[in-house]
Amino acid sequence: MRIGVLTGGGDCPGLNAVLRAIVKTAKTSYGSEVIGFRDGWRGLLDNQHVPLDPSRVDGIITRGGTILGSARVNPEQLRGGLSVIEQVLHSHGVDVLIPIGGEGTLTAAHWLSEAGVPIMGVPKTIDNDINGTDLTFGFDTAVSIASDAIDRLHTTAESHQRVLLVEVMGRHAGWIALNAGLATGAHLTLVPEHPFDVDDVCALVQSRFARGATYVIAVVAEGATPRAGSMALRQGGTDEYGHQRFTGVAQQLGAEIERRIGKEVRTTVLGHVQRGGTPTPFDRVLATRFGLHAVTAAQQGHCGQMVALHGTEIELVPLAEAVRTLRTVTPARLAEAATFFG
Ligand code: F6P
Repeated sequence: MRIGVLTGGGDCPGLNAVLRAIVKTAKTSYGSEVIGFRDGWRGLLDNQHVPLDPSRVDGIITRGGTILGSARVNPEQLRGGLSVIEQVLHSHGVDVLIPIGGEGTLTAAHWLSEAGVPIMGVPKTIDNDINGTDLTFGFDTAVSIASDAIDRLHTTAESHQRVLLVEVMGRHAGWIALNAGLATGAHLTLVPEHPFDVDDVCALVQSRFARGATYVIAVVAEGATPRAGSMALRQGGTDEYGHQRFTGVAQQLGAEIERRIGKEVRTTVLGHVQRGGTPTPFDRVLATRFGLHAVTAAQQGHCGQMVALHGTEIELVPLAEAVRTLRTVTPARLAEAATFFG
């Protein structure tokens, strides 16, 4: 069997660990060859590829990023290029394609699968918002980086009696904010799933100071939005990939808190640091198991599916189910976190 592989969308710690697992499992367990396509779907559209053998992936389990490169591609351009992709796969004798990616990459994988191309998807994203899997790799690393940063902000916030807002990634799903907030004892966490009211935020800040607390730490997901009528948020429109452009919700909320209650606020935006560097051991293990099981399932003739973590086991989920909806923070999970607000 000849396996094609690509890494699409925003990069994510653990991608190299999956690539390593795919190449090693393919070669040592099945004697199969692997060809890598560069820069996500772009590599298939432009026929840019590289042979991957075990020596090429030796030692990369600890490396962040992706040795194949990654890219976002405009969905319409991709839809229009599906036949080119099929031809390129055919010309390389690829029997099954393993796209490793998030919502956008898996949606394109689903289109190809429906067109008859054998696909075995691997879900990845630091946002942890892919439906059908309990977790995606990269998330644990992102939470760990965010938590480390927030731990450090506690002491400086306390020294200066300030309100510190920490903006973390999370476009539609607030999992990073929720978990980093819980792990670090943040006094408030704002997530995209639950619009916030600035008056409530100000009331929480004031009540903490009134109780004798000397500082406030709030974790704000980049996709958090104010409740209608609560505060004006600058609109950023959408980028060429159809993704919403964020305009710095934490910064704007901070200015509003200062204006309304006169407390000194500082904002820290963690940004891409959450996606950089070496993956945590948890993410390396999850990514490795995803890669191993993706190859095994493909060898067994499964396709049109993705590997997924259910409890502690790796199982298969139809691609249609994976892209049907996003896995967002539930009211119950937010209520758990809210127990510790204030
Ligand atoms: O989807 C993962 C993610 O890291 C989001 O959390 C974030 O909004 C986005 O990617 C950033 O994308 P880019 O790397 O294109 O700026």
